[in-house]
Parts: sequence; C-alpha cells; structure tokens
Amino acid sequence: MTVTAVVGAQWGDEGKGRVIDYLAQQADMVIRFQGGDNAGHTVVNEYGRHALHLIPSGIFNPATVNIIGTGCVVNPAALLEEMASLAAAGVCLDNLWISARAQMLMPYHRVLDGLEEAARGKDTIGTTKRGIGPAYADKAARSGLRMGDLLSPEWLEARLDSALQVVNRKLQILGGEPLDGRELYNACLEYRERLAHRIVDTVPMVRTALEQGQEILLEGQLGVMRDLDWGIYPYVTSSNPTAAYAPAGAGLPAGAIDRVIGVVKAYSTAVGDGPFPTELHDEMGERLREMGQEYGATTGRPRRCGWFDGVAIRYASWLNGMTGLAITKLDVLDRFEALHICVGYRLPDGTVVTDSMPDTPWLFQVEPIYEEWPGWMAPTSACRSWKELPENARRYCRRIAELAGVPIAYISVGPERDQMFRVR
Ligand code: GDP
Ligand code: IMO
Ligand code: MG
Repeated sequence: MTVTAVVGAQWGDEGKGRVIDYLAQQADMVIRFQGGDNAGHTVVNEYGRHALHLIPSGIFNPATVNIIGTGCVVNPAALLEEMASLAAAGVCLDNLWISARAQMLMPYHRVLDGLEEAARGKDTIGTTKRGIGPAYADKAARSGLRMGDLLSPEWLEARLDSALQVVNRKLQILGGEPLDGRELYNACLEYRERLAHRIVDTVPMVRTALEQGQEILLEGQLGVMRDLDWGIYPYVTSSNPTAAYAPAGAGLPAGAIDRVIGVVKAYSTAVGDGPFPTELHDEMGERLREMGQEYGATTGRPRRCGWFDGVAIRYASWLNGMTGLAITKLDVLDRFEALHICVGYRLPDGTVVTDSMPDTPWLFQVEPIYEEWPGWMAPTSACRSWKELPENARRYCRRIAELAGVPIAYISVGPERDQMFRVR
C-alpha cells in the first residue's frame, strides 16, 4: 500500500497528467490537491486525447475513485463542460467526487482575473485568466463560497449576497460591470441540480481508503517554480503545487505520504511571465517548441522553451522530498546533436549558485552555466525499457538524476499510455 504524490518539478506542463493516467491503472484513488481549471493535463489513451482541467487524470480507469480535493478552486461551469466532453468520449464518470470544502470559483473571479491583469499594465503575471488568483484571494479573505454551499440554498444565497457587496465594488473600481445577484444565484441552482450528488465530505472516503491500505495518488497542478511561497513570486499561481501541500489539500495526515514522484521534462518550458534562466530565444528554442509541440493545453499559448535546468531540479527535489523522478518527453531530443544542461547560475557579482534558488530579482539576472552532452541521434519512441535506450540517452538521464539526487522511477518516450516504462 502506498500514498504517492505526483508533482511538477519545473514550471508546469511536465507531463503530470500522463504520469497519473499511467499510474492510475494500479490505483484505487486519485485526489487533485490544488489549483483549478488553469491546469491542462493531457492524457492520450484508448479514449483519445484529452486535456483535463479539473477532473483528476485517473478518471479513465473506471475502478479508480477520483476526487477533486479541498485544496482546489472549482469552476462548476468549466467542470460541467469537461464532464460533458469526457462523457461524449465514453468515459465513465460514476467515480467522480468533489470535496464539499473545495472553494467554488465564480464567474466574477474570471472577470476580476482579466481586469486585474489589465490593471497591472506592463507588469503582468501572464495568468491563464481562469480566475484562479481572485478565487484563492477570496478564500484567504474568507469571502469565498464553497462547493458544499450548493447543498444549502439559503446559506448559499446569504453568502453570495455578502460576497457581492465587495465584488461589485471591486468590479466597478477596475472598470467592470456590477453583477446581478439573482442571475448568479440561479446559475448556482443549476450547478446544484447537476452536481449535488457528487459533492461530499471526502474525509470518510479518504480515511477508509488509507486505513484499508489502498493505493492512493495525489495529483498536483503546475510545478514548484510557480509555487505561491517557493516559486518566482509574484509570477506564480495562488496555491502550493509542492508535495508538502498534498496531504493538506487532499485531506490526509501529514505523514501519510510514502513516495513523491517529481515529474520532469527532459528540457524546460514555461508559459506566462517571469524569470526563466535557461530560456532559448534563438532557433534552438524554436526547434524545441516544434519538436515538443509546446503549446499550452489550456490557453494554446506558445510555451517558452529552454535547456534542462539542473539548479531548478535540485531545488524541486529538496523542497518536495522527491523519492523518484519521472522523466518525460525524452523522445523530443532524439534529433539534437548536442544538448546542454544547466548546472549552476552565475550571479552578476560572479558568485556561482548550485544548491539554492536565487530570489526573483536575482533570477532575472543570472547567467546559466552549461555542460554540453552528446545527443543520441536515434529514435527512442519505441523503447520500452532502460536497456533499450541509446547509451547517450541513458547518460543524459543519469546526469539529470544525479543533479536531482534521486533515482529515475519512470521514463516516457511519447504521449501514449504505453510509451512510458518503469526504471528499476
Ligand atoms: P501536465 O500539465 O504536466 O500534465 O503536462 P501537459 O499535458 O500540459 O503537457 C505535456 C504535453 O506533452 C502533452 O501534450 C502530452 O501529450 C505530451 N507528452 C507527455 N509525455 C510525452 C512524451 O514522453 N513524449 C512526447 N513527445 N510527448 C509527451
Ligand atoms: P499545469 O497543471 C503551466 C502559469 C501561468 C502564469 C502563472 C499564474 O497544466 O502544469 P494562474 O492562472 O495560475 O493564476 O497563472 O502560472 N500557469 C501554468 N503554466 N501549466 C499550468 O498548469 C499552469 N497553470 C498556471 O501561465 O504564469
Ligand atoms: Mg499542462
């Protein structure tokens, strides 16, 4: 029996969705522990290709219980849309549950996200405009509504009235239109109609699963570099994608986690603003984007691409307490003659940093120090074991593991479910 947290070890989009889909074949329960529909977790399997935003990536295994956890912010409209799209593909949704304690992301949060970004002028964060920041801000300000509120209409109405007192003033200040409480309340009644039977107190379910020794996966969103506390503040999301938050967001005791799998792409990508030391602004970056098809799964934005960052992985590994690595997209590097791995940052005063993460103002100014590694110039997408990988690909992966200080647990060489294998 194991509780495994699966977390992003870079700037997001590492391939968490495909890793969860693969591991969920053997799992009893998957819990998304933070974030909202800013996530785009792509899964490719016998049901086709799906970008999951709120629904845990274990949904394709009908035997797995899938929970949208308390640490999430849930936009019911987005969730219903996602459910419809999965149902149309023949995916069974009987095992989908939503924590009554999860925050409800309201239509005004999206509006505020857009208006706040516009008000930042040129100092934008580059958010996904899904309302994530405003929803978590309301949670912290204690003016949020929760999914469980849908189950008590009178309470819901009162909470909505009180929230709108503030929200409508904010909207006006930022140049938006005030919202009609009645219309929003009616929308909530519709959400209630369609979702009430899935909204539950998750504690008994999760507790029983743990006590019975079931296999539980905790699915993170985004990656450590955009963690609210430990990422490149303020260019971060408004929750904590690091493993330490997984038990809090999922509703498990702190000591319940047995394994932490850090998902890491064989190179680096980022969407949104902020420092990204190994970013390539030349044709090499362009090539990585084309070979890796690096376009956002949620917003379609072209992703910024760069070489693998060993400083970021050391930081991610330590902070997450990683026990194993899942290296994804190795096949994307198949046709690069030479590869670079960043092993340190040089600060403007000449100091070299390898074992810590400089704070944002410094990170904008660091110069990456690179090692050059020979490419393998051979296809890997048909490889299904460590032994089958070309020797130079193994050396490259070993170097990544050495920098992270943890063993490789899985490697993926293509987006399909069977293009991933375990490394012992
Ligand atoms: P997530 O947000 O961490 O789940 O990652 P995304 O789904 O946003 O981005 C990962 C992208 O890479 C998706 O389009 C996946 O289908 C694709 N992908 C995942 N693993 C591999 C792999 O090993 N090789 C290739 N070529 N593509 C992959
Ligand atoms: P997955 O789970 C990549 C980025 C945005 C922006 C910052 C804050 O698919 O890895 P937000 O909308 O959260 O307030 O935006 O975080 N971002 C992501 N980048 N993958 C994601 O999710 C992301 N979710 C948010 O681009 O820089
Ligand atoms: Mg993604």
